[in-house]
Amino acid sequence: MAKTRRIFECQKCGGQAPKWLGRCPECGAWGSLAEAVRSEPGAGGGRRDGLSSSEGVVPLAEVHTGEEMRTSTGIAELDRVLGGGAVAGGAVLVGGDPGIGKSTLLLQALQAMARAGHRVLYVTGEESARQIRMRADRLGGPADGLLVLSETDLDRVVEAMGRVGPAAAVVDSVQTLFCPELGSAPGTVSQVREVAGRLVVRAKHRDMPLFLVGHVTKEGALAGPRLLEHMVDTVLYFEGDRGHPFRILRAVKNRFGSTDEVGVFEMGDAGLAGVANPSAVFLAERPRGAAGSVVVPCAEGTRTLLVEVQALVSPTCFASPQRTTSGVERNRVQILSALLDRRLGLTLGTHDIFVNVAGGLRVTEPAADLGVVAALVSALRGRPVPEGSVFFGEVGLAGEVRAVSRTGARLGEARELGFTRAFVPAAATAAGREIGIETVGIARLDEIPDHLEPGS
Ligand code: TYD
Ligand code: MG
Repeated sequence: MAKTRRIFECQKCGGQAPKWLGRCPECGAWGSLAEAVRSEPGAGGGRRDGLSSSEGVVPLAEVHTGEEMRTSTGIAELDRVLGGGAVAGGAVLVGGDPGIGKSTLLLQALQAMARAGHRVLYVTGEESARQIRMRADRLGGPADGLLVLSETDLDRVVEAMGRVGPAAAVVDSVQTLFCPELGSAPGTVSQVREVAGRLVVRAKHRDMPLFLVGHVTKEGALAGPRLLEHMVDTVLYFEGDRGHPFRILRAVKNRFGSTDEVGVFEMGDAGLAGVANPSAVFLAERPRGAAGSVVVPCAEGTRTLLVEVQALVSPTCFASPQRTTSGVERNRVQILSALLDRRLGLTLGTHDIFVNVAGGLRVTEPAADLGVVAALVSALRGRPVPEGSVFFGEVGLAGEVRAVSRTGARLGEARELGFTRAFVPAAATAAGREIGIETVGIARLDEIPDHLEPGS
């Protein structure tokens, strides 16, 4: 039996202290220390598994790499984000808000792999096997070869993996599993570290792709995937707005592929379906000729998505006007509206502003600035932007419009979807000619009103 020691561990930063303290000596958080048990290293305890083998030190040039073995997950959008399928021995962490569809996505992936003839294992610490069955029924019925284990004890999960020898496994979620020897509650930093550490090593030894679900909860409630991100090969985030059916799967770390990829899904009655042409879907309900509505080509990874930015501006009845946004950063809108007041002499300071990205998407890149600004001016003046046009460009604090990356891809996607004119940073006007779309260069913000249609 390994020698163990009682320690206290910060649930925020993972720092350790020999006794309980009200405040973590490392990160300064209050009330974050929780008791844990640690195995003494060198006393026969410590890590039982390791990645090292008996080879010891070898010349790097003599290490055989072989071909990276990949298996298709059967879900094209997931394969794309992973860099072409699941890698043998690769550990993938899938994070996201509760209810966003993590369990659905991974169950669908395992089901597809089982249908392709693989034996796969779904471990759940959150739901009963019956609940998983009910979800599987919704997703087209359980496939032969899909095994389920409802268990929270790490030892039994590891034992089952050894016994079953699955071609791929899902553990949902890493925060619900626990290692009884540690003595601390499931979801605490030491438990999450131990659970993920042992599962990841297991996966590497068995050359098995492993998917771990990680919760992102309110600050401090559970050890978040931050700590886990270092332990796995790939980190995917599943995002979206629960009020909308669209979900975006994004790679934020990938040892086996690009982090530039995104997958777009739509949640429906029979689970998640990949969206082949996201721009068309996001623009489907766009009102024509409405003031305050502007289409912006956004670069999402290697893809370009056209999104609709909507603005509503109305005189305020409060002492300090409201700035409410969804899908774009509120601070950014605040800066842009201050700039418009200053450079164009608008009166946004006495108006409430609402800015929304249709479809529940989130746009973070500065290239959307020009679109947001055009939507605000258009909404305030009640004059729509020209029919069939898109806007992109970064706006600087002097009111200048700056060039952004991937001009060609943005113009190309706009043309594909039938747009005929793009308002772009002045430096980018030449690109339109080759692509076959009219470009109008905008050097400064004050030029925007000249391009609006007359109001109705
Ligand atoms: P779930 O995968 O349980 O989310 P997570 O594991 O991230 O917490 O999915 C949750 C939501 O998805 C739930 O509100 C129901 C909805 N849903 C559908 O709309 N269609 C479906 O086919 C399934 C299985 C779920
Ligand atoms: Mg779930």
